[in-house]
Amino acid sequence: MKKPLILAIETSCDDTSAALVDGNCDVLSNVISSQEEVHLKYGGIVPELASREHIRTLIPIVEMALEKADVNIKDVKAVAVSANPGLIGSLLVGVSFAKGLAFSLKKPLIAVNHIFGHVFANFLEHKDIKFPFLSLIVSGGHTELVIFSSAIKYTILGKTVDDAAGEAFDKIGKLLGLPYPGGPHIDALAIGGNKSAIEFPLPMLKHDNFDFSFSGLKTAGMLYLKGRDEMNETQIHDFSSSFQYAIVEVLFRKTIRALEEHSIKTLLLAGGVAANSELRSTFTQYCAGHNINIYYPTAEYCTDNAAMIGAAAQFKYINKKFASLDLNASAVKGMKLL
Ligand code: KG4
Ligand code: ZN
Repeated sequence: MKKPLILAIETSCDDTSAALVDGNCDVLSNVISSQEEVHLKYGGIVPELASREHIRTLIPIVEMALEKADVNIKDVKAVAVSANPGLIGSLLVGVSFAKGLAFSLKKPLIAVNHIFGHVFANFLEHKDIKFPFLSLIVSGGHTELVIFSSAIKYTILGKTVDDAAGEAFDKIGKLLGLPYPGGPHIDALAIGGNKSAIEFPLPMLKHDNFDFSFSGLKTAGMLYLKGRDEMNETQIHDFSSSFQYAIVEVLFRKTIRALEEHSIKTLLLAGGVAANSELRSTFTQYCAGHNINIYYPTAEYCTDNAAMIGAAAQFKYINKKFASLDLNASAVKGMKLL
């Protein structure tokens, strides 16, 4: 089956996005409206406000995506949407809109699991990725190690038993007084800091599994900050660098053990935290010396965007995995395919 031009919609959290992705997984347009300003004063995402913003901005964003790609909506061959997991109110805005649009255009509807979207974001810029591959998915809501033996067959090796890696970054960022989300700010502050200045715990490394835990590390960071009213610039850099190192080191060591134990030669980094510079350089260096092909999306496609939903939808389209018009959104965490 020929791969089609897909209109993709992403509203699972606090970004409203629409994209046109062609059959080669090339991005014709990827328009993102961030709600950062709306939630800034609350230090985190307010779900009700997020849904309302999606309602306000989704239609103009879809129109902009079509215009930017110079595509007539009648030429779209399928409508794809992030249907799970995420904030239920936010997901429902996208799913309801996509259902209505697919029905009126008489085109197939494709439900995409948001986490799959992050993984397949890699295919937007890299056309040479081969199955099987291991994917480390690290975002604000997920930390997962997954082997994909094909686009529709996967095995979850491990996941976080509590907080996600991005959540740990963001909660510590909040305590440091940084804007939400704190991850990219800690990344920037860590530059020039000494990563050995503070010895944070490296959770779950001694466990003989591929699960992660970041809540203890987050508490260690919180307790460290609690004892210090004022930190000078050097101390803030050192703290950021040491805290970031602890997160990256745990992700790194578990991931390379998974690569070795499962004899996998291709690694895909995915999700917002995959934009982290320390994470990227640590993995890149290791993979170069161990004959492993490593892929990660550019920053634009690491964090939430609709183009990645379009990429994942291309694989569902060729496997004829279409959704019916009674599709419902689901907030339940995980990689369930709807
Ligand atoms: O994938 P994403 O946009 O949304 C979710 O699906 O959760 O990921 C957002 C997360 C946030 O926790 C944010 O702090 C983190 O990705 N993040 C980073 C960086 N850029 C984004 N964390 C560390 N370093 C970065 N450069
Ligand atoms: Zn995401």
